[in-house]
Amino acid sequence: MKRLDGKTALITGGARGIGKAFAEAYLREGAHVAIADINVDAARKAAGELGDRALAVGIDVTRQDSIETAVAQTVEALGRIDILINNAALFTAAPIIEIDRADYEKVFSVNVAGTLFTMQAVARYMIEGGNGGKIINMASQAGRRGEALVAVYCATKAAVISLTQSAGLDLIKYGINVNAISPGVVDGEHWDGVDALFAKHEGKAPGQKKKEVGEGVPFGRMGVAEDLTGMAVFLASSEADYVVAQTYNVDGGQWMS
Ligand SMILES: NC(=O)c1ccc[n+]([C@@H]2O[C@H](COP(=O)([O-])OP(=O)(O)OC[C@H]3O[C@@H](n4cnc5c(N)ncnc54)[C@H](O)[C@@H]3O)[C@@H](O)[C@H]2O)c1
Repeated sequence: MKRLDGKTALITGGARGIGKAFAEAYLREGAHVAIADINVDAARKAAGELGDRALAVGIDVTRQDSIETAVAQTVEALGRIDILINNAALFTAAPIIEIDRADYEKVFSVNVAGTLFTMQAVARYMIEGGNGGKIINMASQAGRRGEALVAVYCATKAAVISLTQSAGLDLIKYGINVNAISPGVVDGEHWDGVDALFAKHEGKAPGQKKKEVGEGVPFGRMGVAEDLTGMAVFLASSEADYVVAQTYNVDGGQWMS
């Protein structure tokens, strides 16, 4: 018996990086997985690679109609949703005096409103089904404290931790566990973009910031997506039934509360 046999999961931002690794891990544990992403071609490619229990779904988590369509498509194709991972996010960096309002709104819209309203749509469905469920939000060490150049992204991830607490407390009466994972620095395409932004704002050579942050991790290296899959499987499984409204650091020792 695998740990997620008979379960179905919807993973936003599942076409690449951490979300794709989560999809792979859930499939290994017996689940069916909807890989939901704004980049539909990448979602289709990922689902094609991951096999016939993976389904590609288009979603833009900033749009209510798109969230509702993606939830409906997933239920229609897979029969139910037991697990949601709110993983889609954007990163941005700029000194306070250069923060652009449109960029602020875009990043908040994906990272905060996207998380809240996807959680709401899936929770409504789970409540109606009466079988409970598991919701996992992707936070970040950036949500644990500010960073000089990362005010907006840090604030969005602090909001994700707070939403996880409130939703966790509200939804546990329906048997829905809401928890979050807080990674540190995880190598992948996302961090290539982060590195380029630090190169611009701190005058660093390409790759330099990435090297520095990796060396600064107590574990001794940057994380890789697979470092997070154990926690994602645990939080989605019945072993986590008594875990409510928590945010777990999986970050090689970067943060301690
Ligand atoms: N990589 C890291 O170092 C790191 C560290 C801490 C937290 N995190 C968090 O982990 C999660 C995954 O990170 P990642 O490194 O795999 O990111 P990534 O940038 O590689 O992947 C994000 C995915 O989200 C999708 N997406 C973007 N906007 C969307 C929208 N409006 N609707 C639907 N999908 C959308 C993208 O197409 C992409 O496939 C994010 O929440 C991120 O903030 C990452």
